This record gives sequence, structure tokens and C-alpha cells, in this order.
Amino acid sequence: MPESNNERSNTESVGLPRHVAIIMDGNGRWAQRRNLSRIKGHRAGLDTVREMIRHCDARGIAYLTLYAFSEENWERPRPEVDALMTLLERFVDRELDELCEKNVRVVFIGRRERLRPGVLERVEKAIQRTKDNTGLVVSFALSYGGRAEIVDAARRLIDDAKADRMDSSKLDEAVFRSYLYAPEVPDVDLLIRTGGEYRISNFLLWQVAYAEICTTEVMWPDFSRANFDELVTEFQQRERRYGKTSAQLDQAPGGSKL
Ligand code: IPE
Ligand code: IPE
Ligand code: MG
Repeated sequence: MPESNNERSNTESVGLPRHVAIIMDGNGRWAQRRNLSRIKGHRAGLDTVREMIRHCDARGIAYLTLYAFSEENWERPRPEVDALMTLLERFVDRELDELCEKNVRVVFIGRRERLRPGVLERVEKAIQRTKDNTGLVVSFALSYGGRAEIVDAARRLIDDAKADRMDSSKLDEAVFRSYLYAPEVPDVDLLIRTGGEYRISNFLLWQVAYAEICTTEVMWPDFSRANFDELVTEFQQRERRYGKTSAQLDQAPGGSKL
């Protein structure tokens, strides 16, 4: 098992994305091309999840968010949904000890209401056991929708305003952000989508406002450490202008374009 690399020097992490979010797509097609059931694709996809957590830890990424199951995915055939949930339960059972060893903190984003008791129990256990860890933060988006997150935030904000726990005249982006599912997780720097599609599919709508998007044709079960590194390199070659001009960035103190 590779050593945890949570303590690292500043020079190593220059230009690294702080928060990488991944739309892990292509499990079904990967399986179908091999005449396997879609479920086998999801099983293989979870092996890639384990690899990517190890790799992000080793590379010194601070935050990794993984889109595991969307609100819309509840509309899939019941046997596929049930099998996926079973695979997720087993994943937590198998991986939790290693995550603890690696000082990983597990975060959950999504609507808990629709999760079956077995999944919910694992989610709560993983959060609880890793809550004091200080290394890589892995956020699992499960039963997650970006619009749902914004509506849920608005609901809680309105409740707080009605109960005088917040002053609605002070509402700004920072205050709104504090009502999101995981406000401690910063905006996304690098958004990766595997499986050759070019869409957001209701993922982290608020947090991707200024993310760099990198896509690959590679199906998620085949996505390797080298594929990840290539996309990080692509990210590092981008110029993040945040609405400014390139010349303005050159004049900025330190001249940093990242
Ligand atoms: C992504 O793979 C995993 C989930 C959505 C749960 P898909 O199951 O969407 O795979 P494709 O897109 O059908 O190949
Ligand atoms: C997005 O993949 C959701 C996850 C990866 C969990 P989908 O396969 O569900 O997305 P669409 O339906 O192609 O947009
Ligand atoms: Mg898909």
C-alpha cells in the first residue's frame, strides 16, 4: 500500500488544483462493450474510485469530489439502482480502514432521505470515523443534484431568516454559500468528466462557476493515474482569467496566472 503523503512541501503543490471534482461516467458502456452487465461496469468503476483516492492523496490534492449517483439516477431500472447501492455499501465496508489510515476525511453531499438504511448507515459511519482527519477531503456526491442543493440551501436560509438567525438584508454570495451541503469545501478548480460527454449533468452548479473543465473519452473503469496526471497538466497550462485580461494577470503581484 503506498504511503500517505499528506505532509508535503509547498513547492510540490504549486499550480496543482486544490479541488478536483470528477463526473465518473462510462461504467455502463465500458461493460456493454465487453458483453458484461452494466453492474460489472459499476463494480470496475469502484476499483477506479479507490485508485483515484490513493493517487490524489499521493499527489497532494486537498479536495476530491466524486459524483457517484445523481438525483436523476434514481430513474434508472430498479435492479441497477439496487445493485449500485449494494456495491457502494461494500465499498465503504472494504475501504474505510484504509481511508482512516491515510488521514482522509469523508464528506457527503446529497439528499439523505432517499438513501436506504444500509447506505445511510455506512455514510454516517464513514463521516463519523474520519471527521477529525486532516488529510485529503473526499466528498461523495450521492443522491446529489446541483439544483436540489441550491433549493435546499434557500429553504434553510429562509427558515433562519424567519427565526431571526440571519439577517436577510446581509445576504450575499458568501452567506448563501454557507448554506450549501459542504460549505467548508472550496469552489472546484478542475472539473473532470470521463466517458466522452460534454455536459454538467446537474453537478455542483454553484461550485463550478469558474472551474476549468477537462474531458476525456476514456470510460471511468479504464481511467488511470496517467490519465489523471495528463488532465492535471492540461489544467496547469490553462490561463484562469476570472473575467480579467491576460495583460492584467501578467501585472498582478507575483505574476501568477494560476
Ligand atoms: C456512471 O456510469 C456511473 C453512474 C451514473 C452511477 P454510467 O452508468 O452512466 O455509464 P454509461 O454512461 O451508461 O456508460
Ligand atoms: C452523471 O452521469 C452522474 C454520475 C456520474 C453519477 P449520467 O450518466 O447519469 O449523466 P447523463 O444522464 O449522461 O447526463
Ligand atoms: Mg452515463
